[in-house]
Amino acid sequence: MTWKRVCSTSDIAANSLKLFDVDGISILIVSHSGDFKAIPPLCPHMEEPLASSGICDGTVLTCTKHLWQWDLATNEPRAETEKPLLMYDLKIEGEDVQVFVEHELEYDFDEDEDDEDDDSFWDD
Ligand code: FES
Repeated sequence: MTWKRVCSTSDIAANSLKLFDVDGISILIVSHSGDFKAIPPLCPHMEEPLASSGICDGTVLTCTKHLWQWDLATNEPRAETEKPLLMYDLKIEGEDVQVFVEHELEYDFDEDEDDEDDDSFWDD
């Protein structure tokens, strides 16, 4: 794939999140502090849809389900947040928000389910 126009900068209110379909791939555009980010639609913690659970305050995105937070300017997880956000490359050309989509970015939600120490506690 290549750069794709997703929307106009005026389609997204300041400090808000809006979901778009880009050739069958759901991409969440976040408007913050006069900048934009493109991320997968689900929270990397427990798959909560960030379009409804996410709030943006300045550069800080918070998932209100369990309060994981990220600094969008640096993409650093804050406080107890354990995973960074995945991000698509994004550029603004004129009024157009464009995203580079090679493939769908997805979190690995299964990686914590194979903890044998926890499972074997009851097996004796
Ligand atoms: S699902 Fe988002 S913080 Fe838990």
